Amino acid sequence: MKRTLSTIITVIIFGGILRADEGMWIPALLQRNEAEMQAMGMKITADDIYSINHSSMKDAVVLFGGGCTGEIVSDQGLLLTNHHCGYGWIQRHSTVEHDYLTDGFWAMTMEEELPCPGLTVTMLKNMVDVTDKVLEGVTDQTTDEERAQLVKENIKKLVEETEKTTEYKVTVESFYQGNQYFLMYNEIFKDIRMVGAPPSNIGKFGGDTDNWVWPRHTGDFSIFRVYVDKDGKPAEYSEDNVPYKPDYHFTISLKGVEKDDFTFVFGYPARTNEYLPSVAVNQEANVIYPVVVDLRTQILDIYNKYQEKDAKVRIQYASKHAGLGNGWKKWMGVIEGIRSFKGIEKKRAFETAYNDWCMQARNRMKYMHALRDFTPVYEEYEKYRMATTYMTEAGFSIELISYAASFAELGEVTKDTPQEEIDNIISSLKAETKAFFKDYYQPIDEEVAVTMLEAYRAAQPEDFRPEILNEIDKKYKGDVKAYVDYLFKKSIFTSEENVNKLLDGFKPAKAKKLMKDPAIVAYNSMYEFYRDNVKDKSKECNDRINNLRRVYMEGQMKMIPEVYPERNLYPDANFTLRVTYGKVGGFKPKDAVTYRHFTTLDGIMQKENPDIYDYVVTDRLHELYDAKDYGRYADKDGSMHVAFIAGNHTTGGNSGSPILNAEGQLLGLNFDRTWEGTMSDLVYDPSICKNISVDIRYVLFLIDKYAGCTRLIDEMTIAE
Ligand code: ARG
Ligand code: ASP
Repeated sequence: MKRTLSTIITVIIFGGILRADEGMWIPALLQRNEAEMQAMGMKITADDIYSINHSSMKDAVVLFGGGCTGEIVSDQGLLLTNHHCGYGWIQRHSTVEHDYLTDGFWAMTMEEELPCPGLTVTMLKNMVDVTDKVLEGVTDQTTDEERAQLVKENIKKLVEETEKTTEYKVTVESFYQGNQYFLMYNEIFKDIRMVGAPPSNIGKFGGDTDNWVWPRHTGDFSIFRVYVDKDGKPAEYSEDNVPYKPDYHFTISLKGVEKDDFTFVFGYPARTNEYLPSVAVNQEANVIYPVVVDLRTQILDIYNKYQEKDAKVRIQYASKHAGLGNGWKKWMGVIEGIRSFKGIEKKRAFETAYNDWCMQARNRMKYMHALRDFTPVYEEYEKYRMATTYMTEAGFSIELISYAASFAELGEVTKDTPQEEIDNIISSLKAETKAFFKDYYQPIDEEVAVTMLEAYRAAQPEDFRPEILNEIDKKYKGDVKAYVDYLFKKSIFTSEENVNKLLDGFKPAKAKKLMKDPAIVAYNSMYEFYRDNVKDKSKECNDRINNLRRVYMEGQMKMIPEVYPERNLYPDANFTLRVTYGKVGGFKPKDAVTYRHFTTLDGIMQKENPDIYDYVVTDRLHELYDAKDYGRYADKDGSMHVAFIAGNHTTGGNSGSPILNAEGQLLGLNFDRTWEGTMSDLVYDPSICKNISVDIRYVLFLIDKYAGCTRLIDEMTIAE
């Protein structure tokens, strides 16, 4: 490495007080981090990562669909993301004859690449600080309401004006809780095709059991390609479209990682809340999450019981189980992490220092008041949050009720509704009905209904609950089971045949009767209670909290540089492109336990269990393992490395993000975090917050040796 003078100086300045790891940095402002990144080992410049004057790495990082990240790895628009990000598309292309979820999918030629209508890929072209323009007219005297109105109008004007000057999609995004604004220019690609995916027992190896857990052995990747029209511009799918020629694509490193290596992750983190006051973190981690976890535990126990008994039910409830289970497991980790790593205590200590700082000058009083004023709002908010939580987590987890809710629109049809509109509603309800019953098992739902309604009723006071819960007391003497029996017996929505009959012979005159179906009545009772008693109050609390958060953030932005000059401020994740960096390394999750930083194929063989799909190892993988046929993808220790962890500050949305080395070459794909560190969205602790990535060498090994899809390897740029 060629050490520049500036690196040497930074090493001296930063020596000892490097607070690496925490932070999700705005790429356009990365110059501020450059010295620290280089001191940690980075050999490139901030300008190599993000530039609007020449091609840079940002031209190869995209928002994949609406919630993941992807990266471009060839000059023909080849794109990598996670298997769990491509999952929905793999599923959509699967049929009984071509089950790509189970068997994997490999397009052996470009012609075989499968269009995915509806899937988009978004690329940031430029971002410009427009804080002054957005806050134009705002003064110290402006009230919160006036400010909100002004900001809204200014943004609208700005977007409209800018749209006239550019072909790109323009948005304005708020950073630091409305203390800074950026105008974003995005290019949106619409012809994306599926190129490859490993079988789920590789791409999802370990399933929900291993989810959020280290050590991990998941080959969590899938491959797509971006297509454009003949002029190289984004276009809807057409046979005539051609592969996209990107301004930049990543070079892939086959060197792997060593402990303490510098890495960075470039992607689209969705939401974090690192600057909340302790009252809020306390409500989150000690009030709301425990309720959600408890309700979901009860539901998942019921799912498990039936899934274990019946193979068909296991498949029917696999995706529902994964959906509920992902958050359930994460929030348990958050609760535990906040407790054992003293998250609340740390926040309180910070608040004491903050109040001391506020006391030092008269013009800081508003910052002190903001912090103080959170407490009463959160106290009020709790009641409404609980009501909402029970409605969504308990009430709407009864599948019969959520499904029936979709029919409310049909129930509102009158004789004046145009026939075409009715036909549209009916045809979409037909599709929904088919999908619903394919994966519906009534005994599960009945048991969930009894359990959830009991919990709902027990938790919400009589004068603050949907009428239907009080009726259980009145009509059924509190016997929830008796009510549930009635509900499932009388509702038409337990029978696919009857629902289809209803849809086939539907006339507006029947709408009124439909609304009397007990499942719709139950839904309406819950929703109307929410609409009339919770919704507006909740929004009001939330608006007040957001205003306080803006002022508290402003206070922190002034205080932190003064009191903690070593601490660099970064804005919470907001689904915009960010850079985060940290070093490779294991950790000590608890007393006497130490985790190494990487896993290997040996671990897959140790976890193998032919009876559990998530742990099935295919013959092909066995063959390659037995022959140690890893080619150039083996580590220098001779083994096949599968995944590794590092101290990068990531969150949901970072899935599929490239993890890069000191030269900016691709080392792997980020896909998860360690369970002990899931609290990182609220409080970051570098000793346990680690991101998990699949090693790019394992990905290439699977594409090349396992699937024989060598044409893809040939178009990549690989550094040995
Ligand atoms: N925990 C990871 C991320 O939120 C991966 C989730 C998908 N994998 C799974 N087994 N459910 O969101
Ligand atoms: N698994 C997450 C995702 O899907 C990443 C994370 O939460 O660390 O984006």
